[in-house]
Amino acid sequence: MVKLVVDAIHDVARSINLFELKAVAGCQLQAFKAGAHVSVNLPGGYVRQYSLCNNPEETHRYLLAVLCEPDGRGGSLAFHKDVKEGDMLEVSVPQNHFPLDQRAMHYTLIAGGIGITPLLSMAYKLKALRKAFDVYVCLRSEQDIIFREELEMLVAPESLHFHVTDGDPAKRLDLESLLAKPVPSGLVYCCGSQRLMEGVEKATTNWHPKKIRFESFTPRVLDGSDCEFNVKIASTGELMHVGATETILEVLRRHNVDVTFSCEVGLCRSCVMKYTDGEVEHHDQDLLTTDERRSRLTVCVSRGRSQQLTLDC
Ligand code: FES
Repeated sequence: MVKLVVDAIHDVARSINLFELKAVAGCQLQAFKAGAHVSVNLPGGYVRQYSLCNNPEETHRYLLAVLCEPDGRGGSLAFHKDVKEGDMLEVSVPQNHFPLDQRAMHYTLIAGGIGITPLLSMAYKLKALRKAFDVYVCLRSEQDIIFREELEMLVAPESLHFHVTDGDPAKRLDLESLLAKPVPSGLVYCCGSQRLMEGVEKATTNWHPKKIRFESFTPRVLDGSDCEFNVKIASTGELMHVGATETILEVLRRHNVDVTFSCEVGLCRSCVMKYTDGEVEHHDQDLLTTDERRSRLTVCVSRGRSQQLTLDC
């Protein structure tokens, strides 16, 4: 972690502030690549991940756009209410689980609201590389639009599409039509709500899976459609039930099992545990390798596919 100063805070859209972080005199910021994010230690003990949304060529600042979610997990509210210009924040070095593959010939960037943040840094890079790309931004209201000016500067008018629904589902972006045909040498990058990402996943079943890339900083919605299962603690033999609307992490904490965690969205590795028995439905964001997944899982998001999982703790 490094200490950075909050140099400026800009109100850029309804409930969205743009935080401009700079290194203190005599220090340098670590460079980052398009799609990278940082973890930020916030007042109240929250640790949250935010995409770097500025031009990756910039070395003098990090820009983080933060949507205030009063009913969220508390981090964004703390960022908006308790962080002021001139404050110091502890920030990790940039990490990138959503890297821009520069080998493609065409890119389709699909954002849901604040999900535009990693895609904006990609747009800067794609423009610099003179690549062909289209940007689709899905929003509930005109008031939610951020970075319009930047996008209009980076993206050709015919390739920039804002889809404002005003609450009408009929006005949603028609993903099935948009993604019906795989684009030769094309890649799709999507960041947004679970509903949007599931829509993209469903619309791209005839694409090669490696051509579709996702990132999300919001937890999976547990709406009761997931299966229930049990976890067994190898060291004590204790059995715990995980209901359809709770995570393994929540259950472990309720039973006072000592487990570290941070992002709660399968991005940071802090909650990775070994398992010795059972089948896992992995939901981490390409954090674990195929090999690691055979014996490890992220307890914040992953679930049991079998009726019982044995955790090596
Ligand atoms: S808490 Fe970050 S991966 Fe689980």
